[in-house]
Amino acid sequence: NFVRSGERFGVSTEATVRFVLDGALVEAPGRTADTTLLDFLRESQGCTGVKEGCAEGDCGACTVVLGELDGTRLRWRSINACIRLLPTVDGREVITAQGLAAKEGPLHPVQQAMVDCHGSQCGFCTPGFVMALFSHYLQMQDGMRTASREELLDALSGNLCRCTGYRPIIEAGEKMGSYTEHAPFRTDDFFSFERVERLRALQRPDGLRLPDYLAPVSLEAFAAAYEAQPDALILAGGTDVGLWVTKQLRRLPAVIAVNDVKVLQAITVSGGSMVIGAAVALEDAFAALLAWYPPLGEMWRRFGSRPIRHSGTLCGNLANGSPIGDSLPALMAVGAHLRLRRGAHTRTVALEDFYLAYQKKDLARGEFVEAVWVPAPDPNSNYAFYKVSKRKDQDISAVCAGFALARDAGRVTAVRLAYGGMAATARRAQHAEQALLGQDWSETTVRAAMAALDHDFAALTDMRASKDYRSAVAANLLYRFWLETRQGAPQAEPTRIDGLQPVTAGDATGARA
Ligand code: FAD
Ligand code: FES
Ligand code: FES
Repeated sequence: NFVRSGERFGVSTEATVRFVLDGALVEAPGRTADTTLLDFLRESQGCTGVKEGCAEGDCGACTVVLGELDGTRLRWRSINACIRLLPTVDGREVITAQGLAAKEGPLHPVQQAMVDCHGSQCGFCTPGFVMALFSHYLQMQDGMRTASREELLDALSGNLCRCTGYRPIIEAGEKMGSYTEHAPFRTDDFFSFERVERLRALQRPDGLRLPDYLAPVSLEAFAAAYEAQPDALILAGGTDVGLWVTKQLRRLPAVIAVNDVKVLQAITVSGGSMVIGAAVALEDAFAALLAWYPPLGEMWRRFGSRPIRHSGTLCGNLANGSPIGDSLPALMAVGAHLRLRRGAHTRTVALEDFYLAYQKKDLARGEFVEAVWVPAPDPNSNYAFYKVSKRKDQDISAVCAGFALARDAGRVTAVRLAYGGMAATARRAQHAEQALLGQDWSETTVRAAMAALDHDFAALTDMRASKDYRSAVAANLLYRFWLETRQGAPQAEPTRIDGLQPVTAGDATGARA
């Protein structure tokens, strides 16, 4: 099926991808839609300091830092070059470990800290660790040049080292803020007016057009292009699509990218819902959602790694519709809706109705997910989100769950129990919900609901978990929810991640009984 249909975009083969690489403008000519940034850096630019370990976003050896215009500011974030498709860095700036210090000049503080703390042995993982730390270094606030251990563990959750061990690397992260910076690699230099202007000059008012790749900037142009060419592939962050290229060796059809559509990059609040556009990165979407749903914090931190969350989008996770996608049960539990668009026509569908069967969604040809609408939390409800996987960090769920519960005088007045990993699609557990509705929120009714889960799901065995394990986990998560919310249960601590202000009890969900 994957026949290239790029000529249909009617673009001259002279068109190029342009971006700034370690301070210099580079151009990549011609058909590049399924070239990865990593291949381009290593094979065309001689940037062999950017390593390939896994080629699937898991090990972090390929980590680079991407600078993008965010209004009048520059925003710097770590990404995995191995699964990032080259045209998506058009108009942006890429920094590699090779570009962090001048030849013969002093090292950047992050590099010097790695040397001083003995953070490297064979060195294969080191450029990736340096760039993951550097991304965090740039995000540390002015005057607060320290990173907590918790922040560093999150910043490094996408990097593997097989020989040094992580203690010296974390120590380097704790120490990196204490060194003197040298021009032209001072933090201010990365946010300078000149740097912003250089990227501004690379922006394209009508978006990038290559023979096999379109990146419209207006919603109308995006919708019209996809309606006219419904066999094209929609690309968002590429954290799923990138693996089709690197692992399944698939040739992509013509690609229409959503990333540069301005209105889809926004998070707004409308009619009591948070509206998260299709181009919003997971990291930003979760940060916004966390303010409304503090119990999401744990699931968010364990969703992929920071570089994955920097590239991947929330709508991409929902549109991809994997039965083990983490955001699906979480957002089903809170009653999210999708706004779908085909040309100028839009419609809204409840997230739980969007998944028809395995890999089958309620999407017409030429239709796409424009945004997800997440309702504000009900102050009288309890919410919980759980992820169970073999490894704590950077692992795909065996089972994930999202629960919402409203009570009046101890009786359940509304309940939504959604699970991923239990069936061909993420979905609600209707038998278990019925067992709870109108009943006391007591151990007896919860145990009845746990038993009813057997009528909701016939779990599968695969390499992540056996069906018995999944069934037991699904029931026990419900029991855990009861333990955490029953009368007299201890109040949960508000989640604190990445320096975000925690939302205190009563602010948003507030309802732990
Ligand atoms: P893309 O890869 O760009 O697209 C994915 C699919 O959705 C494609 O079919 C694309 O055509 C389609 N699509 C994208 N946007 C739209 C749209 N607006 N309308 C219609 N179709 C669209 N997932 C989890 O749930 N939990 C994890 O912990 C997790 N960890 C991961 C770790 C690694 C190392 C990797 C590589 C992936 C992981 N993922 C995880 C999967 C992936 O990161 C998510 O599914 C991500 O949200 C996908 O978003 P994207 O923007 O990268 O989508
Ligand atoms: Fe392993 Fe990219 S090579 S994450
Ligand atoms: Fe060898 Fe990390 S230093 S893999």
